[in-house]
Amino acid sequence: MIRTKNLIRTVVALVLCTAIAVSGFYAYVYIVSESYLNDVDVDAGFVVSDVQDAATVEKGRHVARTRGCFGCHGQQLEGRAFSDEWIWVDTAVAPNLAEYARQHNAATIEAAVRQGVGHDGKALWSMPSYNFVLLNDEDMSALVTFLRSTPVTESPLPLPRPSLGWDARMRIARGESQHMAEWADRMPPLLLSDGDDPALVHGEYLAKTMCNECHGFDLRGQADIDITTPDLAILAAYSDADFRRLMQFGEGLGGRKNLGLMTVVAKDRFAYFTDEELNNLLAYLRTLPGEPVDHDASWRTLR
Ligand code: HEC
Ligand code: HEC
Repeated sequence: MIRTKNLIRTVVALVLCTAIAVSGFYAYVYIVSESYLNDVDVDAGFVVSDVQDAATVEKGRHVARTRGCFGCHGQQLEGRAFSDEWIWVDTAVAPNLAEYARQHNAATIEAAVRQGVGHDGKALWSMPSYNFVLLNDEDMSALVTFLRSTPVTESPLPLPRPSLGWDARMRIARGESQHMAEWADRMPPLLLSDGDDPALVHGEYLAKTMCNECHGFDLRGQADIDITTPDLAILAAYSDADFRRLMQFGEGLGGRKNLGLMTVVAKDRFAYFTDEELNNLLAYLRTLPGEPVDHDASWRTLR
């Protein structure tokens, strides 16, 4: 009898110790990941320009279209949830942007778009803010004006609650994943400026607020666990017609019709480029072979 009681006591003690150790471990992972997410500074104070006419709304719509806001936030900006295998968090929820733009001021919207920091002061994870760091104030302002002018469409299915999940928190706690505010900080500044050829200046701006999402911050290619993309210096080998076919239909050299993600983004975003944008973008990308490639850039193989 006494023996059985002792055995029960020992088992209970063991179970309790294990429970305490496991919950202690999860508490540690949670605290480390939360404090990393909260450890961001935001440069507040962005205001929209006073000019908010129909032309500004159209300009903002074009910025949103070519930068992919519709692709992720929904064609009516109604919001979308992602829990596909290529998203490394449990559930990412791109919010309803028309509603968001009415609930938050321009500075909050700008902090999310260009700085990778959300309305709650925490760093974002799945929103590719590093791609928008170099958007100029004029385009940023038109974007906000457009978002506010868009009628609010409800998402047909209620959006779930976003969730990082334990796998993602473990990766953060181990220092294996960087949030968007950190990625945004690493985006190098534009190389060309006022004194340079205006067509090339415009081309560099377009490339580094669009193609840099997948082709590396310097456009010289990227290889990480999720996506491998070529060095855009290869565009020197494309004719004008080849380039237009790629941008409009997502068709590669030699008539390759399915380039995966590239074809998706071309049809959703790049098919809307104006002639001037196509010309300037290609003119700039053709200058790339003359630039050295920094193979050790911290962001090139990171995730
Ligand atoms: C690749 C998909 C993707 C693209 C492209 C994208 N977003 Fe997002 N966005 C998200 C996700 C996912 C979230 C939710 C936050 C997170 O998980 O990082 C988000 C969050 C936001 C937020 C709210 C941030 C907060 O929590 O306060 C704003 C504002 C926003 N996006 C604006 C935009 C705008 C404007 C564009 C186009 C310039 C855009 N997004 C393009 C995926 C995207
Ligand atoms: C959302 C990610 C994404 C964005 C944004 C993106 N690309 Fe790509 N791109 C890819 C991927 C992935 C491939 C590789 C496709 C393959 O070979 O299967 C690719 C391939 C290419 C190729 C090689 C096509 C061929 O003939 O094989 C060129 C050129 C290219 N992209 C140009 C651009 C330009 C210019 C931009 C900006 C206007 C851009 N990409 C933006 C993902 C992207």
